[in-house]
Amino acid sequence: MTDFRPQNSTPQLIDQLGRTVDYIRLSITDRCDFRCVYCMAEDMMFLPRDEVLSLEECARLVKVFVGLGVNKVRITGGEPLVRKNAMWLFEEIGRLQGLKELVLTTNGSQLVQQAVALKNAGVNRINISIDSLKAERFKKITRTGDLNKVLAGLQASIDAGFAGIKINSVLMRGSNDDEAADLVQFAIDKKIDISFIEEMPLGEVDHARVSTFVSNADTLKLLHNQYSLLPSTHNSGGPARYWQVADTSTKIGFISPHSHNFCESCNRVRITCKGELFLCLGQDNKADLMPLLREYPNDDAPLIAAILDSMRVKPKGHDFDLRRARPAVVRFMSHTGG
Ligand code: 5AD
Ligand code: SF4
Repeated sequence: MTDFRPQNSTPQLIDQLGRTVDYIRLSITDRCDFRCVYCMAEDMMFLPRDEVLSLEECARLVKVFVGLGVNKVRITGGEPLVRKNAMWLFEEIGRLQGLKELVLTTNGSQLVQQAVALKNAGVNRINISIDSLKAERFKKITRTGDLNKVLAGLQASIDAGFAGIKINSVLMRGSNDDEAADLVQFAIDKKIDISFIEEMPLGEVDHARVSTFVSNADTLKLLHNQYSLLPSTHNSGGPARYWQVADTSTKIGFISPHSHNFCESCNRVRITCKGELFLCLGQDNKADLMPLLREYPNDDAPLIAAILDSMRVKPKGHDFDLRRARPAVVRFMSHTGG
């Protein structure tokens, strides 16, 4: 067994504005078995295999970041669980000393088969994307997804003993914006949490986002009429603002990139499946790590230098504007990683 035990985990990634980066989100594939309308165009081109980080390269990168003080890792995609042998990577990361949290964002389609193994590998929390509880509508939004499979996967994760399961929902006007309360009730019944994510202008999709945009302020107002919501001080280390539903264990999070600039407390960077280190979800500043991984297979020093150097170009904030004709950044969420 490889000994992945970084010695040093004091924070070393500090940007020009004094923000400490202790959280990485790593996309391990751009592929997905769904084609959600806000995430992908109907027909997508995916990357050839040799342009994608190998799982060994992913493990090496995570180890280097943990050595630089990162203590939380989220594995995303595309759909991470459709990558062959993904479990090997979860197991490798799961045994890294210095890591406090290993978390996963998934569409849930593979959880029936994989939930128990993920738990055993040391995954701490799972976010599952569910935008509708109506099977036909779910199919329309995901283009290929099977709601029942996802719900069974969610249940399998609860049964596997995961605490801190969260649903992620993107509401779109004229599509599923009448389901906010139903989704919250579902979360309450399952004793899990839910976050509403405002649709972000990432990648060119097949609809005009300004016409489907639902603001979290409106969703919150609507939910206030139906539930007793108490402002929560809960901080998951992310940009969500939370409300506790009174007399339940459920928290509702709101990720509102348009109305709320959460950039001043940003603690994360993203790594694409091509090994690009993006310093901000909504900006193009990046460092290319794949050439360094491949040129120096046995020497982490150049990689570490590039990562430390990238802190100089971490932008102050994103700059989303739905009225712009072009998306804020042309890359898709499935490329950058949610
Ligand atoms: N805007 C908002 N959320 C998005 N997601 C994917 N693309 C977008 C977008 N353009 C969501 C998915 C998933 C999470 C990782 O990101 O629904 O829940
Ligand atoms: Fe796949 Fe997630 Fe994108 Fe949907 S949002 S197409 S599930 S990567």
